[in-house]
Amino acid sequence: MLSSPRHGCKYPACHLRHGAGWPGLGRPPYDAPGSPNEGVLVKVSDAERNIEALLSEERVFEPPEDFRARAIVRDDSIYERADADHEAYWAEQAERLSWFSRWDTVMEWTPPWVKWFAGGTLNASYNCLDRHVEAGGGDKVAFHWEGEPGEERTITYADLLQEVCRFANGLRSIGVQKGDRVAIYLGMIPELPVAMLACARIGAAHSVVFGGFSAESLRDRINDADAKVLITADGGYRRGQVVPLKQNADESLTECPSIEHVVTVRRTGGDHPFTPGRDVWYHELVADQPAVCEPEHMEAEDLLYLLYTSGTTGKPKGIAHTTGGYLTQVAATHRLIFDIHDDDVYWCAADIGWVTGHSYIVYGPLANHTTGIIYEGAPDWPDKDRLWQIAEKYRATILYTAPTAIRAFMRWGTEYPAKHDLSSLRLLGSVGEPINPEAWIWYWKYIGGERCPVVDTWWQTETGAILITPLPGITALKPGSATLPFPGILADVLDEQGHSVGLGGGGYLVLKRPWPSIARTIWGDPDRYVQTYFGKFGTDTYVAGDGAKRDEDAYYWLLGRIDDVMNVAGHRLSTYEIESALVDNQKVAEAAVVSRPDDLVGEAIVAFVTLKSGFEGTEGAATELRDHVATKIGKIARPHGIIFTNDLPKTRSGKIMRRLLRDVARGRPLGDVTTLANAEVVEQIHTMVESGAGSGEE
Ligand code: WTA
Repeated sequence: MLSSPRHGCKYPACHLRHGAGWPGLGRPPYDAPGSPNEGVLVKVSDAERNIEALLSEERVFEPPEDFRARAIVRDDSIYERADADHEAYWAEQAERLSWFSRWDTVMEWTPPWVKWFAGGTLNASYNCLDRHVEAGGGDKVAFHWEGEPGEERTITYADLLQEVCRFANGLRSIGVQKGDRVAIYLGMIPELPVAMLACARIGAAHSVVFGGFSAESLRDRINDADAKVLITADGGYRRGQVVPLKQNADESLTECPSIEHVVTVRRTGGDHPFTPGRDVWYHELVADQPAVCEPEHMEAEDLLYLLYTSGTTGKPKGIAHTTGGYLTQVAATHRLIFDIHDDDVYWCAADIGWVTGHSYIVYGPLANHTTGIIYEGAPDWPDKDRLWQIAEKYRATILYTAPTAIRAFMRWGTEYPAKHDLSSLRLLGSVGEPINPEAWIWYWKYIGGERCPVVDTWWQTETGAILITPLPGITALKPGSATLPFPGILADVLDEQGHSVGLGGGGYLVLKRPWPSIARTIWGDPDRYVQTYFGKFGTDTYVAGDGAKRDEDAYYWLLGRIDDVMNVAGHRLSTYEIESALVDNQKVAEAAVVSRPDDLVGEAIVAFVTLKSGFEGTEGAATELRDHVATKIGKIARPHGIIFTNDLPKTRSGKIMRRLLRDVARGRPLGDVTTLANAEVVEQIHTMVESGAGSGEE
């Protein structure tokens, strides 16, 4: 439904006068070349340009009346309640879970450290499974699973509970104990949520490693977490090919001394070398196990899982999430943002290997007794309508996916969704990167049939759950804006000096007080945690690393990362990590990685590479370097463009000037180069890029 610029949202901060543009778009003072934050503003202003260019889309979308009438949140009193007493409000959300014993305190905050629901005990798998089965909901479908080759499995809550118990007992039988870490390297098969919940049941923390990561990435994550057991599969299907998971795992394990056992799920079949005494098949391990397993009573602050994400250095961060606060907030946000009713068929099309899958495929939806869909493979296999075929078949009511996927659907054309009946859908969601208004409108129109609200949800691995988002029954939507902080969340936008920039201004997105699902630390490196998230404006202010603007209605517009983290096809990658991988190649002397905007993947990776003498920057060399990065990190990190240069632009103190390289990569006029030690090199690179020489594009 379309509305005129005036709207009826009762949220106090929201008085939409749309189309007024951005007042005060001046360049904040922190942009001076050579300043410590050089680049911050450059990135913010880049994003501003994009957003402004796209703001020609000026419509405001009110919640459709029939949606609002049936929505869980129908008026904005929830914001007022949460602001009046956020601890009481979160405690109310926590009460929706089942606790073995109640907490003593809701929040204990000694900035930056926080505890939620201290003294309370619970078990995440009990909350996701047992309590629903005990209440008579065992027959409800937990997951409709579809394999890429076409197999189907329907798994009820009762089935899932039994399978989790069997596997939990199996894990115990090979020595896994409360407090251990278990690494999981699987594709999107039902055994993945089973493995996570089995760990949670016995109090072992899981560390899921996305199946697209390389053997080396897996090795580093296993070693950092000191994992005792690895759960993998013989393979996974992707675009008709087999991803050799066990083979990759075997490669990693030559250098993983902490691993005592490897459990392998049979998915693709075929022979695999088995290491006697270490390796065991999943089906053999669970075969004789009882389908009952007492859940451990976990403290609210006990570790639930680790999930590694890229930071600004080469070493990924093991983000640590604990049990009580995390589960409280993923359940609450899932229920209220996706407006979950008993008859919904909810589909989050992310991979469980990322935080979106942890929070919104596994823990949130199962805690809410929701029916979900899991699809194993690629969206264009065997054809580009695969997702729409699945949505039609299971009568999906809610779809949650990423802008990069939406842009791919747009490129493939409207004929693919048009072939299917998508009338069951009633709500759409987006996550992972800023959604450009054009993609938003396309999604709303061609997937949502102009009837489904689109919730653009901002959050991070570290935040555990969604923090900035519409509530679909009450929030007037502006395409491209994640709208407003979730009830109970206190956000702000600060300038370089730490002052709130007020409405209309842009700067650093920060959170001013803790929320229950905030990451508690970086595994093994608390100093890095403090430094990364609380180092800039003091220990009571969480710095997200994203730039943001608020318009005059207090709506948030996310502007992308302002640090050296890129967001490529919804995956977080650090420029430094890719540079290290490139320099690791024997031909490479030096490398600098930047990104440029890309229609499909959001940010495309561009690498400027200087080769050692004796090597030539040929097409073959570019291919070799791309493959090298894929081996070191994973295919998701392969540079899109490689530009060979004789030198890289540097300041007199020897720092590579990425800002200039970004300008070159984006084909922009070059700014001031007077601070460079080797100004002539920029012109050379520029000319080379313009003429297409020395560059390999993929
Ligand atoms: C970006 C994914 C704009 C942002 C859940 C953040 C977004 C990073 C949005 C976290 C959104 C995520 N609008 N940007 N709706 N959602 N981001 O840890 O830059 O993989 O910092 O978590 O993705 O990525 P992560």
